[in-house]
Amino acid sequence: MIYTLMNKHTPVVELNIDEDTGTILKVSKVFNPEYLPVGITFIKKLPDRKTLNDWWKGRSIPASRSGIREALEVLNVSYTEQLLTKCYGLSLSDQYWINPKDHPFQWEDINFFHNPFSDDVGNALFGQAAPGSELDLISPCNTSDGWLRKKWKIIDGERCLIKSGSNPFQQEPLNEVLATSLHRRLNRGAYVPYRLIWEDQIPYSICGNIITPETELVSAFSIYRSEKKRNHHSPYEHFLLCCEHLGIPDMKEFLDYLLAFDFLIANTDRHLGNFGAIRNVDTLEWVGPAPVYDSGTSLWHDQVTGAIHPESDISCHPFRPTHGQQIGLAGSLDWINFSTLQDIDEEFRFLLLSSPYIDAPRTDALCQGLKGRVQQLEQLTLQQDFKEPSQEESELESLVLK
Ligand SMILES: Nc1ncnc2c1ncn2[C@@H]1O[C@H](COP(=O)(O)OP(=O)(O)OP(=O)(O)O)[C@@H](O)[C@H]1O
Ligand SMILES: [Mg+2]
Repeated sequence: MIYTLMNKHTPVVELNIDEDTGTILKVSKVFNPEYLPVGITFIKKLPDRKTLNDWWKGRSIPASRSGIREALEVLNVSYTEQLLTKCYGLSLSDQYWINPKDHPFQWEDINFFHNPFSDDVGNALFGQAAPGSELDLISPCNTSDGWLRKKWKIIDGERCLIKSGSNPFQQEPLNEVLATSLHRRLNRGAYVPYRLIWEDQIPYSICGNIITPETELVSAFSIYRSEKKRNHHSPYEHFLLCCEHLGIPDMKEFLDYLLAFDFLIANTDRHLGNFGAIRNVDTLEWVGPAPVYDSGTSLWHDQVTGAIHPESDISCHPFRPTHGQQIGLAGSLDWINFSTLQDIDEEFRFLLLSSPYIDAPRTDALCQGLKGRVQQLEQLTLQQDFKEPSQEESELESLVLK
């Protein structure tokens, strides 16, 4: 079927999409290529069908999403890609959508920012839909990323993202709340505030939408792919160069903050889909880095109590293999006021005590663990005071400042 790929009101390209598989078969016309998603490459002045397909299929719920097989059964579809065309590819994280050429729509009439949507898909994803009932498949949940169970829900008129944790500790939602408190105490970078809610004794984190009808969230992955990496550039250098060439302001300062923050919470999953930048979809001007979101995969969330060792070098993403190495990219840490973090472990304890999935020895180990991370970062800050910047850091600095 023929569709126009739209960025809000702007027609971008004309596509032939196979409804059964959700595959883009052909790019037949190009209208406004500058409005294409960031990171789409061109071959002979035409958007490359492969990268466009990667982007399009990447909009669907990942096949690795917890509980997706059962949900697809209830929704009566075979692949998550089939859900994409059902909601015209509309999302609450950007303004791309596909407009059927035969019976076109106006963005005002179908976008999820202004128009209500059913809870059916969200409930199916949470294992709460009645099988066999007639379901409304037009939902922004069809275009949500990530492996944890999650759903968009309108609560008192606000679009909220509700996200679960994983077995056996169900710790991720509590971590999101702890991360929120840590951001507030550090008082440095922009962040998404998360709250905790309980449903049937299961904890969920809930947050508002950081995207408005005027903006889009562009993942660091798309930014990273916007140019070819040169062999002599590290992933960190390459990413910052991409930001510089695209015109995204303040990314170096943002990363300084993010890397120190992730060190503190021992985040093991800051992959290139877990941070990014915000762009205005009408003017294509960059607003800047997106507020920090998705910090739940941290604080030993999947480790048994005996494996919680704050002093060990913890593996990390996205620039270096371990936090011990990655923190070297964060520049000066002298902005951190450690006195504001003094009783953060006690706040964490209070949070953990509310959960039936976390026993007393685990609570103790986690609080000790968090305290240990704060102490380690403070030590590093003191050591920095006595050290000249390493050659690598100076080289980087000159590269970034150029
Ligand atoms: N507050 C928000 N406003 C708009 N979009 C958001 C918001 N939070 C998350 N998103 C989008 O939803 C996606 C999934 O959310 P999130 O990263 O929190 O889920 P996750 O399941 O924890 O992911 P992962 O698989 O990385 O662990 C994000 O990659 C981002 O594109
Ligand atoms: Mg994520």
